[in-house]
Amino acid sequence: MTAPTRRVLLQLDCDPQPSAFDAIVAVDAGVDVLLPYGGVSPQTVLPLVHGAMFTRGGAALSQTAIFVGGSNVEMAEAVCAEVTQAFFGPVRVSVMLDPAGANTTASAAVLAAARHLPLFDQEQAARCRALVLGGTGPVGQRVARLLGRLGVAVDVASRKLQRAEEVCAGVMEKVPHARLAPVANASTAFHTALESSDLVVSCGAAGVVLLDAAGRKRAGKARVLIDLNAVPPAGIEGIGSGDKAKPEGPAVVYGALGVGGTKMKIHRAGIEKLFGAKSVVLDAEELLALGESLTAPPT
Ligand SMILES: NC(=O)c1ccc[n+]([C@@H]2O[C@H](COP(=O)([O-])OP(=O)(O)OC[C@H]3O[C@@H](n4cnc5c(N)ncnc54)[C@H](OP(=O)(O)O)[C@@H]3O)[C@@H](O)[C@H]2O)c1
Repeated sequence: MTAPTRRVLLQLDCDPQPSAFDAIVAVDAGVDVLLPYGGVSPQTVLPLVHGAMFTRGGAALSQTAIFVGGSNVEMAEAVCAEVTQAFFGPVRVSVMLDPAGANTTASAAVLAAARHLPLFDQEQAARCRALVLGGTGPVGQRVARLLGRLGVAVDVASRKLQRAEEVCAGVMEKVPHARLAPVANASTAFHTALESSDLVVSCGAAGVVLLDAAGRKRAGKARVLIDLNAVPPAGIEGIGSGDKAKPEGPAVVYGALGVGGTKMKIHRAGIEKLFGAKSVVLDAEELLALGESLTAPPT
């Protein structure tokens, strides 16, 4: 009797040191053998992909998969593109892209918001407006992209208008129907966005306050406020990191840990989904769909 083929995951990280977090999630998701590589770039990735493609044939190839991570999202995207372009015919493996945890975290944030707002109803989503604070970081960009794809009007905030403009242009290149508008923090446009948003998602750097108590008062129309920063002080003043669908006046609020459980579920389920199939590619949209299937009430 032959032993079952072991699950091998290549962890390709663009940072010099591969993420311990991503490694542990992979092990917890049932990976038997983890091969972590750091400092991976589009220029150096091909031999690693070939190593994964050409060692196992047929059905056994479905027990090899690739995870692409790292803190540089653009670099990780370029690595992922090189990986998928190397495949041909049946000689391919499944791939998941989650640089800086951005895809899984953004998916979890959108799913939290969708519990209270009709984001998965195209017509109703088109009537929703969202403000993404710290919208230029890895997580903020993905939140903007996912909401934009669902049809929500999204204001992307940054300290620098030009950064926000670049992010909006980058997202709209991928999602041409997205309605994204750049706003500079504390500008008139920012305050208008704050006052008219149904959803505020704060994706600023750890320990940075992006919305103080006065700002929160201006966000009176918002039905959902989400703060993804887990490091005190809170990104949105008054939100506790453990808050999860906590009612506050007419709104509900979520803190980073309140969203983090769903993020972890999506991350683990994503890794599990890579095995047993050879052509799965999981980017933000696929991970959001996976998360939706995990959190859907049983029928
Ligand atoms: N809950 C979870 O499971 C989970 C998972 C991953 C990440 N996170 C958290 O999610 C948040 C976003 O992550 P990220 O990697 O996208 O963040 P990031 O790249 O570190 O920062 C996001 C944005 O914050 C703005 N920013 C940075 N320093 C600032 C300052 N001093 N004042 C005002 N704005 C500042 C920057 O935008 P501008 O320069 O354009 O203004 C930056 O692009 C972080 O707090 C992170 O810890 C949570």
